[in-house]
Formats: sequence, C-alpha cells, structure tokens
Amino acid sequence: MLPANILVVDDGESVGEVISSILSAEGYLCRPCSTATEALEVLHGRADFHLMLSDLMMPHADGLGMLRKVSLSYPDMPIILVTAVDDVSTAVDAIHCGAYDYLRKPFHRQALLASVRRALEHQHLKRQNREYQTMLESLVADRTQQLTRALGDLERSYDVTLQALGAALDLRDAETEGHSQRVTAYSSALARTMRLPEEMVRVIARGAFLHDIGKIAIPDSILRKPGPLTDEETAVMREHCLIGYRMLSRIPFLRGPSEIVYAHQERFDGTGYPRGLKGGQIPLGARIFAIADTLDAMTSDRPYRLALPPAAARQEIERWSGLQFDPDIASIFLRMPEHLWGELREQISLGASGLLLPSPGHANQQFTVGSAAFS
Ligand SMILES: [Fe+2]
Repeated sequence: MLPANILVVDDGESVGEVISSILSAEGYLCRPCSTATEALEVLHGRADFHLMLSDLMMPHADGLGMLRKVSLSYPDMPIILVTAVDDVSTAVDAIHCGAYDYLRKPFHRQALLASVRRALEHQHLKRQNREYQTMLESLVADRTQQLTRALGDLERSYDVTLQALGAALDLRDAETEGHSQRVTAYSSALARTMRLPEEMVRVIARGAFLHDIGKIAIPDSILRKPGPLTDEETAVMREHCLIGYRMLSRIPFLRGPSEIVYAHQERFDGTGYPRGLKGGQIPLGARIFAIADTLDAMTSDRPYRLALPPAAARQEIERWSGLQFDPDIASIFLRMPEHLWGELREQISLGASGLLLPSPGHANQQFTVGSAAFS
C-alpha cells in the first residue's frame, strides 16, 4: 500500500514541523502549508490527499469557513483539527462543519498517531465503500441490460410461437389467406396513428392476430360449411369468442390480447356478440380491430365476389361509424391515407409478418390526425 499523503496546515511553523516530523517518521508523506489560502491552492484539483491536519485559529483566515469549504469539495478526505482552543463548543462547531476529529495542543505523539490512524482507516473504508457502490451500480446496470435483452428475445420468441399457432388456424379456416396477418398490421397502424403506447400496440397486435383462435374448437362441419348456417350452427360458431378467451386468458402475456379476442365481434351500438357490450365497454383494441377486420374483409376476394377497392371499405366504415364502429376511431381511420393499406397488404403478401411488422414510419409521422383521449 502506498504511504498516505497528509496535508499539514499550521501557522505556528514549529507545531507544523513537529507534526510533520512525527508523521514522516511513521512513513507518512507530509505536505506542510502555513496558511489556509496556501492549503486551498495545494488541494485545488488534486484528489490524492488522504488526510488534512489543520490549525483552527489562523491569522487572516476563517478556520471554520475554510473547513466547511474543504469538506464540501473533498468529502472523502477526513480533517483533523489541531488547536490550542480549549473550548468544547468550538470543537462541536468544527465537527458540524465537517471535521472528523479534534486534537488539542499540546498533544502527545501517541494521541496524534492514534487520531491519524483512525482518520485514515475511516477514509479507507469510505473510499472502499464508494468503490463497492460504484461496482454494484455498474453490475446492476449490466444485469438490467442483459435482462432487457433477454426479455426482448423472449418476446420475439413468443411472437414466433404465435405465428405458428396462427398458421395452424389458417390451414383450417382458409377463407382468406393472410387475413390474421393483415388485420394485425392494420390494427397496429391504426393504434400507432392514435399514438397509443407501443406496449399497448403490441397487445392489440396479438389480440388482432389471434382473434379467431377459438375457431380451432369449432367442428369442420360448421366451420367449412359452404352454405348458410342454421340457428343452432350459428350459436356454436359464436362460441369461438369465449373459447378463444378461455384458451388465452390463462397465459400471462396473452391476458390483454384475450380480452380483445373475447370482444372482437362486439359492435359499438351494443348489437354485437357474445356479451352485447356497448361503446366504451368494448376494449379499445377490439374497437380498433373491428375497423381493421371490415377493411380486410371488403378488400379481399370472396367466393361470391372479387375484392373491393379501399375506397369502398372507407365508405362502408364511414356509413357504420357510431353503429358498428367507434366514431372517434373511424374518424382517425378515415383521415389516414388510403395507399397505406395497400402497401401493408403488399408487404404481407411478400411474406412479412403482421405481428413482427415494424411500425410504418410514416404512420407515426405524417398522420397526426387528432389527439383524442382513448380508453
Ligand atoms: Fe371472429
């Protein structure tokens, strides 16, 4: 261990010399100063002094003022006061101003050495403690970064698993290929234009992607029936919302999306199913999804008709605003440029995933279409 650097400040040179010689004999490196100003100059910009011994009463200097200044600027360096003042209240003031200890003249060599050793030990522990704290902080920052990365990986792997699940469903219900991917992309674009937090956009995207997952439990005879369904069959088919909800709601990261799955067939005016929810009772994600779903249904080929242009979907959504659709969301949708939907459709047909689709930059920037509060 390197010898400790000690600053010795004393106007009575002989006392300063005695202190320095006692300490030097013990292996300490002493730097004597005869005035407070000199001491401050020596300390300026240096952090390698381990301890300061200073006289409290010096000519042309406010001892306590200097003490306060030094202890604020060098909090890790303990200060021992050496003075002839035999006054307890001065000692208490000095301690309040940041002094570590108080040594009264005349002092014994042993008393000086004991006080210096204690102060240095204190300084060493303080420095060690600070280093330990810094090390801990950087460790915590490192681990947080690792954890964030791991959570990101986990989230991506969830989405990959969901893709597989969605693909399995598409195989059974092949009415419109890529429907789940497209409603996911459309719902996300709409949600981002509404400036919803990214966390919520992800919940909405997953809910949109899995909206028909409950159809897995619907018999083929009903799901794939070419003609119209009987009342009984319709009732069975309608169970897919609740089945989907039950499938997903027990999975923690799909709890939010499961609410959208449950409510994706509700209508704003309360005439939807399965619960006949109305207006704000319908989760926001399900209200967004309703518009994305109609947009995709109308702009996709059906066995009985070819795809309609986006303009026709826009008209339909405008017509049913306030009835089937939330009018605030419909109005935002209507103010978004039409070409965006075609572009998203194109990206998905080229193999992009609606779930993992990055936010279309322009959906965030160009379409500042309102700042209504959504809930
Ligand atoms: Fe559905």
